This record gives sequence, structure tokens and C-alpha cells, in this order.
Amino acid sequence: MKALVLCGGHGTRLRPITHTSAKQLVPVANKPVLFYGLEALREAGIEDAGIIVGDTAEEVRRAVGDGSRFGLRVTYIQQEAPLGLAHAVLIARDYLGDDDFVMYLGDNFLVDGLTGVVETFRRTRPDAQLLLTPVADPSAFGVAELDRDGRLVGVEEKPRRPRSDLAIMGVYLFTPVVHEAVRSIKPEARGELEITTAIRWMLEQGLRVTSHVVHGYWKDTGRVEDMLECNRLVLESQEPRVVGEVAEDCQTVGRVVVEEGARVSGSRLVGPLIIGPGAVVRDSYVGPFTSIGPGCVIRDTEVEFSIVMERSSVLGVRRMRDSLVGKDVVITPAAAQPRAYQFVLGDHSRVRIG
Ligand code: TTP
Repeated sequence: MKALVLCGGHGTRLRPITHTSAKQLVPVANKPVLFYGLEALREAGIEDAGIIVGDTAEEVRRAVGDGSRFGLRVTYIQQEAPLGLAHAVLIARDYLGDDDFVMYLGDNFLVDGLTGVVETFRRTRPDAQLLLTPVADPSAFGVAELDRDGRLVGVEEKPRRPRSDLAIMGVYLFTPVVHEAVRSIKPEARGELEITTAIRWMLEQGLRVTSHVVHGYWKDTGRVEDMLECNRLVLESQEPRVVGEVAEDCQTVGRVVVEEGARVSGSRLVGPLIIGPGAVVRDSYVGPFTSIGPGCVIRDTEVEFSIVMERSSVLGVRRMRDSLVGKDVVITPAAAQPRAYQFVLGDHSRVRIG
């Protein structure tokens, strides 16, 4: 059994971060969200993964390499444009051959891992197996319709009037019959070759498509608030570990991780939080659910419930929260007079001033 991991896409909802970076590489507790997925695939016994890449191919390759550090053999498959999830399957035909496979969306986050799901598929071997989970806003997802006996009878992509609150999660298991499905369907109005269309085709052919409703934790990390929520969840379960330097004039409370080469002084750290290798935190408050990336500088600042990515500086910010700060960002205080904000922001940036 192989994996097909999707790391292309537009990433419009995470702009401007995705103007320059792959959304699958946004860090959750200082580790790219994609890495959690790759680890879960390996844990489920999968050794071969094809990774679909788009515009951010170079960055994904640099981060994942040949996959050996995950115990995986990785093959990269270039998608010329994000033409849909079923298109990704279409172009992976040669790579996948006649193997069964797990299709995993690289920006998804699953707490309970994949082992149980893969085992169920191997044991029962339906033509396709979906995972469903109840969500508050089904119209933002692919939605499944079940009959009274819990059998899957229909799927719809981002329906205006959803027939259930069961969203299709970003983990699909397929036998090779899916290749015939993706070859037989046409792009939808949005121009994408959608996987829900392929699944509907399979249902229409009378093929066996099963689904399991799971209530564990799953997030599509497409939006900033989802990223922050995943970050919160991972930090909550991490073991405290202080390897870097924390000066005596600091106060630390709760699950705090300070990594090698990090230096903290004159500060209050209230976990769960992580401060990455080589970061400097001085005269600041770092509050719960915060990840400070490698090489960051945090000075005279209060920050909580945020992700600050590598090498960024946050200086003199009275209170920052619910924020996602990209790499190499510099936030500094302006001159005292006249009192004014000064911005240099990329396209699609969002700033809230309080
Ligand atoms: P989505 O989040 O559905 O799409 P997107 O990345 O275009 O994001 P947005 O809606 O914010 O514009 O994609 C799910 C995953 O699949 C994500 O990791 C990107 C990947 N993907 C591909 O690799 N190829 C594709 O053609 C599409 C549509 C998505």
C-alpha cells in the first residue's frame, strides 16, 4: 500500500503566508504540519509516498528530502496547476500502479493517527473508504449523505444546502478502481476535477464505498484560526523540557519547552509554549499556546496564543494574540512622536489594531 500526499494547491485562505511558503509547511509547535501526517503514515505501516507538489515544490523538497528521516521512500510528482484532488490522482497513475493507496491532504491534521483507519481498510478492502466527522459549517467541505443504516449514499462538494453535517476528512483510501473513476469524470463548474465527483461516479457504478464517522480530532488547517487551534492542541500534550538558558530572573509556569541555544531573560513564561532553538526572549511575557520559532527575537513584548515563524523579531508590542507571523518578519516600535502606525505589508496581509 502506498500514500499519495497532496502538497500543491492555492492556499488562498492562508494568504499572505502562502504567497511565499507552502501551507503544508506552516509550523505547529515548531514542526511543519505536513510532518505529523508523514509520521502517521509511516506509523500505519506505509513505506512509499508520492508527494504531489505545485508552485512550492522546491520548498517541500527541501523540507522532506528523500523521506528517509521519516522512514519513507518519497517520490515527487509535479502538478502543473491545482486542478483538483481527482486531477492529482490522475497524474499519479504511473506512480501508484496497481497498488491500493491512502490519499492524504498535506495540510490536514489528525490527532489519532492513521493506523486504525488503514487496518480497517486492509481488512475489509472496499473500493473506497472515507472518513467523516461532524462539523459546524459543512458547506465549506465535501459533505456525505448516509441512509438510515449509516450507508454512504451520496457526496457533494461545498453544498449550499448540506444534507448532513458530516464533512469528508482529508484521508481517503482507494483501490486502483479509482483510476477509472478519475478518468471518467469531467471538471466541475469551478474548473477542478473533484474527488467528490469521482466518488459519486463510484457510487453510481454500484462500487462499494464505505465511510466511518470519527469524533477524534481532525482539522483542515486552511485558515489561520485552524492553525492556531492545532498549535494549541499539540502544545497541550507536550512534555516540559528546558534545554536552552533561562535566567534566574525569569518565572516559568506550566508546560514550557525551551530548545537548545535559546536564551530567555527578565521574562515570564506561562505554558504550554515552545521557544525554538537559538531564539532570544528578553523582558517579555510569553503566554499559553504560543510557538516561537528558531532564531526569533522577542523583546519588551507580550505575546500569547500565537505562532511566530523562524527568524522574526517582535519588539515593543504591548500585547499580541491570535496571530500568525511569517518568517523574517520585523515588528518594532515607531518613534514616540507623532503617534502613528507605520506598515510595510505584503498583498493580502491582515492587521487588526486595538
Ligand atoms: P484545499 O485546501 O482544498 O485547496 P487549496 O490549497 O487550493 O487552498 P484554498 O482553498 O485556501 O485556496 O487543498 C487541500 C490539500 O490538497 C492542500 O494540501 C493542497 C492540496 N491540493 C493539491 O495538491 N492539488 C490540487 O489540485 C488541490 C486543489 C489541492
